[in-house]
Amino acid sequence: MPEGWQWDETLYLESAPYYVRGRLPYAPGLAERLRVVLALDGQSRLLDVGCGPGVLALTLAYLFTEVIGVDPDVGMLAEAERRAEEAGVGNARWVRKRAEELPADPGSFRVATFGQSFHWMDRDRVAAIVFALLERGGAFVHVSDIKEARAVSGDLPYPTPPHDEIQELVRRYLGPVRRAGQGVLPHGTPDGEAVVLGRAGFAGPERLLVPAGEVLARSADDVVAGVFSRSDSAPHLFGDRAGDFEAALRGLLHDASPADRFAEAAPDTEVFVWRKPECA
Ligand SMILES: C[S@@+](CC[C@H](N)C(=O)[O-])C[C@H]1O[C@@H](n2cnc3c(N)ncnc32)[C@H](O)[C@@H]1O
Repeated sequence: MPEGWQWDETLYLESAPYYVRGRLPYAPGLAERLRVVLALDGQSRLLDVGCGPGVLALTLAYLFTEVIGVDPDVGMLAEAERRAEEAGVGNARWVRKRAEELPADPGSFRVATFGQSFHWMDRDRVAAIVFALLERGGAFVHVSDIKEARAVSGDLPYPTPPHDEIQELVRRYLGPVRRAGQGVLPHGTPDGEAVVLGRAGFAGPERLLVPAGEVLARSADDVVAGVFSRSDSAPHLFGDRAGDFEAALRGLLHDASPADRFAEAAPDTEVFVWRKPECA
């Protein structure tokens, strides 16, 4: 867990309804790539840890008999449930828990996915629990966006969102140090994941790069949702200045694109696959 920061229930408070609309999607070929690399035959179970609004769980559900999404945030799980119903996914269940509280039920999952969530956890503890929960030969799969902007050839139909100015505006309202829940994240995202997972007994990783899809058209509402979907600019952090902040943000977006339309290259998706050895 990042030094100087303690998990609390407000980490993503009020962010859930903005999440799916605001975040750029994972690469469209992700599920198919995982099906091949993990040799999924539709006969096993998936644990999606830190599932948020079910982004990975719902994308991958057709490849498993059952999918369990785990997250401590009530709003995120409500969104996951709503989206599962909307998409007609009947084999997903949602469990409100921190990953650190998962019961050790040995060998019950073929795959555990972590979509941009592992860094929030007590990683040694969660790695050990998930190692026990996986079948022999099972996979710990870490999925994330490639953060650097992707170069796009040719002209975009609209301006890209002014991300630097948006960050500057957030800092003006919330201060220079990244906020998270009731605390701050002075040291950013922790590294050393290979050491943590190696220590737990995992072998690997195998790195996959799944290419992004088309350039996306984004409305000003989508970009505002993206800002409020983040833990470091979640609505609750602005308190009674949330309305002022949103008005200032919309003004900034309107100045950047008077049509309130933006274009953005979706990022490639990076996946690290770690295996529990067959002989573990
Ligand atoms: C950036 S969101 C990722 C959501 C989704 N997995 C995705 O790929 O878009 C991180 C999620 O991790 C969850 N989370 C944070 N700490 C956690 C913990 N200790 N145990 C389980 N989930 C946690 C948060 O509530 C949030 O929903």
